[in-house]
Amino acid sequence: MALLGGTTSLADCLTAAGYLAFPPRLIRGRAVAEYERAFAREIGVEYAFSFASGRVGLYGVLHALGIGPGDEVLLQVPTHIVVANAIRYVGACPIYVDCTPDSIEMDLQDAGRKVGDRTRALILQHTFGIPCDLDHAVAFARRHDLELIEDCVHALGARYEGRPVGSFGRAGFFSTEETKTISTTMGGMVTTADAGLAASVREFQRRCAWPPRGLVARYLLKLIVYHLLTEPHIHYYARRLYEALGRPQPLPEPTTAEEARGERPPGYERRLANAQAALGLRQLRRLRQNLRRREAVVAGYRDHLARDGFEPAPMPSPREPAYVRFPLVVHDRPAALRRAAPLAVLGAWFTSVLEESASPEQGGYVPGSCPTAEAASEHLVNLPTHPRVRPGDVEAIASALAPSSRGRA
Ligand SMILES: Cc1ncc(COP(=O)(O)O)c(C=O)c1O
Repeated sequence: MALLGGTTSLADCLTAAGYLAFPPRLIRGRAVAEYERAFAREIGVEYAFSFASGRVGLYGVLHALGIGPGDEVLLQVPTHIVVANAIRYVGACPIYVDCTPDSIEMDLQDAGRKVGDRTRALILQHTFGIPCDLDHAVAFARRHDLELIEDCVHALGARYEGRPVGSFGRAGFFSTEETKTISTTMGGMVTTADAGLAASVREFQRRCAWPPRGLVARYLLKLIVYHLLTEPHIHYYARRLYEALGRPQPLPEPTTAEEARGERPPGYERRLANAQAALGLRQLRRLRQNLRRREAVVAGYRDHLARDGFEPAPMPSPREPAYVRFPLVVHDRPAALRRAAPLAVLGAWFTSVLEESASPEQGGYVPGSCPTAEAASEHLVNLPTHPRVRPGDVEAIASALAPSSRGRA
């Protein structure tokens, strides 16, 4: 059992190996358009455009909406530094809004206090795969004449009133980075039902460079190695192979040092390669099965934790979460991390209001301005839900954590 690589199959790895062995179709090919069509169908919109990552997709949307210098964009904390970066790279100013304690979504009352004359857009983040209260968010955006952009990076497959997230705003963006619901190691997708916006995003995509072959080869290698790392019986050998491969040429990391400091890295505006699209397409075809497994894993966590007096937060009925990880609030996070360490599974996404930032202040965050998010970033842990988590794992993880859970998720 391990944190990573849980969404891929052995057949995906063989497909990746095939592309490595036959490089002419590594970068360009028919899979890109096919994957985009399938993704748009999945979300129930007309258009989808693939990019090298979710953050580049967001950047493309902001660009396409004409958001730039002098404009403000509302976004919640906790979030990832790369979301704030995309706003700053177009020249706009991120305005940080606090979150709600249970669903970790944007607190619209706080948003109401922070919206101003220069605010042009609102990025609505469906954190951990829990859909936001879309009725109120859509109404808020309309009332203040804001472009609504859904951050669906954690939420592929989540629905609200039966409708997929990513179809409510002017645009949505998704991620297929290695820890997300499906993995192409790195990757992103923009969805929209708006023909005018689609034309501008398509134009932006055309201007983006194709990724270098060496980088795509390393992404595929990483996908294979991560998959093997989660096989318990070969974990020992796979770990050594991973370390050996990483020594001469470190495998690519999702966030660069420049991005952590809020600076723009070279080669930012890039597309998704054909081989990655083919892998995304394979996993998209298994999405239902993937989501059913995640649901069963989450039900298992809730069951086991309830036996230890844990009370999960009620989820109002129009929301159908698709948990990319299962969040849990704990009293003592360092203790919880220590207890779960032997299981090598516990994630601590959002250890800061701006995840992976060198410091939140560097992203323009004013300490003390979003107290609920600051508390969340000290007490949240998250549990794996991927399809390779087995019932025995669920039990072991839940019993390791039960003593520290505060009774909310
Ligand atoms: C909430 C959120 N939005 C956006 C992103 C960026 O996605 P990507 O890594 O595909 O650029 C992340 C990264 O994990 C994230 O957690």
